[in-house]
Amino acid sequence: MINSAITIPELAAMKARDEKIVALTAYDATFAQLLDESGVDVILVGDSLGMVIQGHETTLTTTLDDMVYHTRCVARGAKRALLLADLPFMSYPTPERAAESAARLIREGHAQMVKLEGGRSRTETVRFLVGQGIPVCGHLGLLPQSVYQMGGYLVQGREDRSAQTLLEDALLLQEAGVGLLVLECVPATLGEEITRALDIPVIGIGAGAGCDGQVLVLHDLLGLGSGKRPRFVKDFMAGAGDIPSAILAYAQAVRNGSFPAKEHSF
Ligand code: KIV
Repeated sequence: MINSAITIPELAAMKARDEKIVALTAYDATFAQLLDESGVDVILVGDSLGMVIQGHETTLTTTLDDMVYHTRCVARGAKRALLLADLPFMSYPTPERAAESAARLIREGHAQMVKLEGGRSRTETVRFLVGQGIPVCGHLGLLPQSVYQMGGYLVQGREDRSAQTLLEDALLLQEAGVGLLVLECVPATLGEEITRALDIPVIGIGAGAGCDGQVLVLHDLLGLGSGKRPRFVKDFMAGAGDIPSAILAYAQAVRNGSFPAKEHSF
């Protein structure tokens, strides 16, 4: 029995109806239940847990065991939302290893879809996973698992050539079978162009208002954490009064198109 009202075909239908998709990260059952009851459509157990839960500088230290544990916690709280879990760094170097890792997230964590980072170099892995019946979400633009290769947390696709490469990668991932795409930190014009070019839903984070939906790291939305806040983040706690109201305000702002505004976009 499918225990979620939100399925992958339903997300595709939302895109077709021009209805915005609301996504947020969660790492435990309590917040998962709150997000679920607030009508969040997709709950992402992000490998960002290595940073916001464990206090590391990057997501590279997050292990598959960490992901399985937190996905299982979130699964206990999420009843309606689609449960998406990240394949962490180096858990998918080959199609076979990716399938073993994804199987753990699904069997032990109860994830309904897995996310991996990268473009054309990942199409063989995506095909293999989809061939085994495993739903896959792609992730393009800023790839936190490649932070050292990229030289930092930098906006991607600013030049014509890199923008073209990203568009091609998105089309190649779609052709390989991804059912969803997360697009991180690209200019809003490129976010909109990729969203229009694809049949599958595109969820943006720092990719402008033209995407089919938005995702944020929960702690960023709640204004938690020290240090400089990235441009694409909005603190929804400011003026909300309490956490449930902040989450509802985010969901409403995504649905009515007021978030992200120009000041949150590149
Ligand atoms: O790990 C994560 O939280 C993510 C989001 C930033 C999209 O991948």
